[in-house]
Amino acid sequence: MISIDFSGKNVLLTGAGGGIGQGIARQYGAAGAKLHLADFRPEAMDDLVKKLKAAGVDVVTHALDVTDEAAVGKVVDGIVAADGKIDILCNCAGTIANKPYMETTSDDFDRILAVNLVGMHKCIQATLKHMIPAGAGKIVNIASASSRKGNTFQIAYSASKFGVMSLTQSVALTAAANNINVNAICPGFVQSAMYVPTLEVLAKMNNSDVETMRAFMLSRVPFNRDQTPEDIGNAAVFLSSDLAVNITGQALNVDGGLNMN
Ligand SMILES: NC(=O)c1ccc[n+]([C@@H]2O[C@H](COP(=O)([O-])OP(=O)(O)OC[C@H]3O[C@@H](n4cnc5c(N)ncnc54)[C@H](O)[C@@H]3O)[C@@H](O)[C@H]2O)c1
Repeated sequence: MISIDFSGKNVLLTGAGGGIGQGIARQYGAAGAKLHLADFRPEAMDDLVKKLKAAGVDVVTHALDVTDEAAVGKVVDGIVAADGKIDILCNCAGTIANKPYMETTSDDFDRILAVNLVGMHKCIQATLKHMIPAGAGKIVNIASASSRKGNTFQIAYSASKFGVMSLTQSVALTAAANNINVNAICPGFVQSAMYVPTLEVLAKMNNSDVETMRAFMLSRVPFNRDQTPEDIGNAAVFLSSDLAVNITGQALNVDGGLNMN
């Protein structure tokens, strides 16, 4: 029988207070892992942690801004000092600006790249320092459907998410000799705090309303449904498991088929 059992495995998950991060945390927890949950809004993890603990999951939280390299190093080294290793790093922290290109500022680029791309790099490098000598590890980066195609309303975000794909491949090549798998997931539409403002901006740009835009976005999805945070969590669990032992440098679309349209 095929099963995934992360008992004895330590996961570090960033952006754990967000919509998708919470779903990923629940699925890693359901697979038996010990969770180190990080977010720069630690209070956003309170309810999640309560529920995970009630379900018997071993959880530690970390207030962490992924743009702060020293803080990232401190959290990563602290986990290894306390628990001996990080088996799985899942980079989910992210931010966005929804606006047309001619309104997108250099500050938008700086802010978004600092979190989505450079912050991810900081977490990966700090963790790889421990995974490389251990000769084992799994890294899962949350990219986006916007990693595959540019668009007219998330310019800096899409650029950062294209960068995530490149970073994923480069780190996969770097770490392959050390038995470390590095992959990405490209979620489609997940109804999180990040997604609703996107619909509002699209509605404004198209002289429309949020519900019309929601229906339009869904009409592009062959399965005609949104993705859940757990859908993304399931993909993260799979890519972190031995079932995916020969998969590296890849990006898995979890988008109901959106990328085909
Ligand atoms: N919602 C979607 O439809 C969708 C689609 C594709 C990809 N994604 C990606 O999924 C990931 C999670 O997004 P979400 O939809 O859950 O959004 P969200 O806004 O609910 O969650 C993002 C989380 O990242 C945290 N965060 C932001 N900046 C941080 C920083 N500097 N340091 C630490 N934590 C920080 C936030 O506090 C928040 O909890 C993001 O990388 C996003 O780009 C989302």
